[in-house]
Amino acid sequence: THCILIGAPVDEGQRRPGCLMGPAAYRVAGLPRTLTDLGHTVEDRGDVVPAPGRGQTCANAAVHHLPETIAWTEALAAAASTAMPDGLPIFMGGDHSLSLGTVAGVASHADAAGRPLFVIWLDAHSDFHTVETTTSGNLHGTPMAYAAGRAGFDPFPPFPAPVPGENICMFGIRSVDPAEHAALAETEITVNDMRVLDEQGIVAPLRAFLDRVRAANGMLHVSLDVDFLDPSFAPAVGTTVPGGTTFREAHLVCELLHESGLMTSLDLVELNPFLDERGKTARAMVDLVGSLMGRKVFDRPTRAF
Ligand code: ARG
Ligand code: MN
Ligand code: MN
Ligand code: MN
Repeated sequence: THCILIGAPVDEGQRRPGCLMGPAAYRVAGLPRTLTDLGHTVEDRGDVVPAPGRGQTCANAAVHHLPETIAWTEALAAAASTAMPDGLPIFMGGDHSLSLGTVAGVASHADAAGRPLFVIWLDAHSDFHTVETTTSGNLHGTPMAYAAGRAGFDPFPPFPAPVPGENICMFGIRSVDPAEHAALAETEITVNDMRVLDEQGIVAPLRAFLDRVRAANGMLHVSLDVDFLDPSFAPAVGTTVPGGTTFREAHLVCELLHESGLMTSLDLVELNPFLDERGKTARAMVDLVGSLMGRKVFDRPTRAF
């Protein structure tokens, strides 16, 4: 696979400075080398630089850094749609507001290619707020709603080809605000919260979703938030939530995604290296990308899809 690394040092979608150091941390932790060791080619396109903000405003006074976030969205959507025909883009964040742009760019590419886009959201949070409903004002809590085509994003460019709810699957969810909960209930989005994973494990729900992607000849965008992982081994994130996926569950998800052969783009988001402990979270994320790209933690045959 030709892997295209794209740095997205976005820090404006939340309030704990440090996510802007994420792309550098991934490079230092050996992401390029991990990929080449697995036999992939790597092209690092450097870090995206957004245009200056243009002063847009909105009615929700809690929202901060709206013009900057719109500028990031435009720049990252362009970088994503440009990269898609060339290989597998890996977006190194940056907080999760970067997905406002990456999913938009991937969606316009899929639309032009005449293929349906599917999204798998690996996160403690559903990120299903709009600009109007967020109470924290942190726009990293909104990208999934934007991609699903929810109303309430007026100052943003219209989302190019909204992703149908049936094509969206969330895993690891354990923190959902009331407004998000109400909005999700109106959709066909599959929310595999921790209760589902505790009862059914991660394999059956994941296979069920991947089977649908394959049957539709879909493209698959994977958005991996550090807080999907349990903070005990991945502490470098501003929004830790206890009870996350274990090291083993997380690698299993990544291995199954690799075996499916379906992933066409990847976000790595919310790493805040300033909160890390001797680089352990950055290294854990790089290891997970290794599993996503073909490395086996346990070298034994697994059932083919
Ligand atoms: N729902 C909360 C909020 O709107 C938390 C969002 C966390 N999002 C994230 N990408 N870590 O502020
Ligand atoms: Mn700022
Ligand atoms: Mn998130
Ligand atoms: Mn999260």
